[in-house]
Amino acid sequence: DLRKVHHAVIPRGKGGRSSFSGVAATVFGATGFLGRYVVNRLGRMGSQIVIPHRCDQYDLMYLRPMGDLGQIIFMEWDARNKDSISDALAHSNVVINLVGREWETKNFPFEETYVGIPQRIAKATREAGITKLIHMSHLNADIRSSSKYLRNKAVGEMAVRDEFPDAVIMKPSEMFGREDKFFNHFANMRWFGRAVPLIGMGKSTVKQPVHVVDVAKAIINAIKDPDANGKTYALVGPNRYLLHDLVEYLYAVAHRPFVPYPLPRPLYHLVARFFAMNPFEPWTTPDKVDRFHTTDMKYPGLPGLEDLGIVPATVEQKAIEVLRRHRRFRFLEAELDTKPAKTVSY
Ligand SMILES: NC(=O)c1ccc[n+]([C@@H]2O[C@H](COP(=O)([O-])OP(=O)(O)OC[C@H]3O[C@@H](n4cnc5c(N)ncnc54)[C@H](OP(=O)(O)O)[C@@H]3O)[C@@H](O)[C@H]2O)c1
Repeated sequence: DLRKVHHAVIPRGKGGRSSFSGVAATVFGATGFLGRYVVNRLGRMGSQIVIPHRCDQYDLMYLRPMGDLGQIIFMEWDARNKDSISDALAHSNVVINLVGREWETKNFPFEETYVGIPQRIAKATREAGITKLIHMSHLNADIRSSSKYLRNKAVGEMAVRDEFPDAVIMKPSEMFGREDKFFNHFANMRWFGRAVPLIGMGKSTVKQPVHVVDVAKAIINAIKDPDANGKTYALVGPNRYLLHDLVEYLYAVAHRPFVPYPLPRPLYHLVARFFAMNPFEPWTTPDKVDRFHTTDMKYPGLPGLEDLGIVPATVEQKAIEVLRRHRRFRFLEAELDTKPAKTVSY
């Protein structure tokens, strides 16, 4: 780090939350699903964390105790304002961009969320002389994707590389965990007619979900590893499943009857467009339907979780964390003896 280092960020102590890890990180998008796991790990090892946010301060109180007294600093930011971005990272030596949204709004179309904002953050990080930038992309980011989210993620990767060649780009598959919008999404479908619509019965889509904690660990290890700079990581779980078999397994763990039915894509889009009209939090959108029915890409050439020293957790090990609350009370403590889901290798 060529920048003048303040004595407060020189590593010291034994590694707990009251020592100092040497990491002073600005975490954009810390109030999201992945954010709490990242902030928790940063705080636990004794880091200074700047959390730019746009929500009410009461909505982020759960983040406060994740670090030692005074080590987590909250500030308001506006993602459209360059200066507010440079202010947020002025005193950091690590920048992490977790900003994302599953749907578009008038102010923030996907071009803005996944290209404009990352580009501005990458530029400000370079201009501040910071050497570590971690950017979240998506495993299936692809300019030919049917999902606009995934098309813009692909453009965003290129934009970030252009602005900041040494950035670490993380490409996780769909993440699962307690607050996810993936396993919870499928489990919640029982509210709509007690049956689960899947394009082609979910038999032509292959998914390789990754546990959110493994992604958070990957971010921390990439911060510590100077060799990670400039690399793109594909972060996936250990097993591939047909979407049908995966959702069937989720319902088995939740002790709910699984009644799938095939829904053709155009019809599914029509239904999703109805949900997408919700001006607050659309439960699904045509874009999400396409993203969930995209087969997870394989990147044998890219480094992954193992290269960051992480043994990825299986769906079978962690699904209950998400699904226990979808059980009826009489099954709340039922044995965890569900037969593992069938895996595929293609
Ligand atoms: N979840 C997955 O399975 C998955 C899979 C692959 C990649 N990813 C990517 O990983 C990253 C983190 O995912 P996540 O699931 O944690 O996302 P999330 O729960 O939706 O959180 C997104 C965060 O971004 C912030 N944000 C969104 N739009 C913003 C804007 N216009 N201005 C300021 N802040 C904004 C949100 O702040 P507010 O709380 O104020 O809205 C929130 O803190 C995202 O880039 C996502 O695309 C996620």
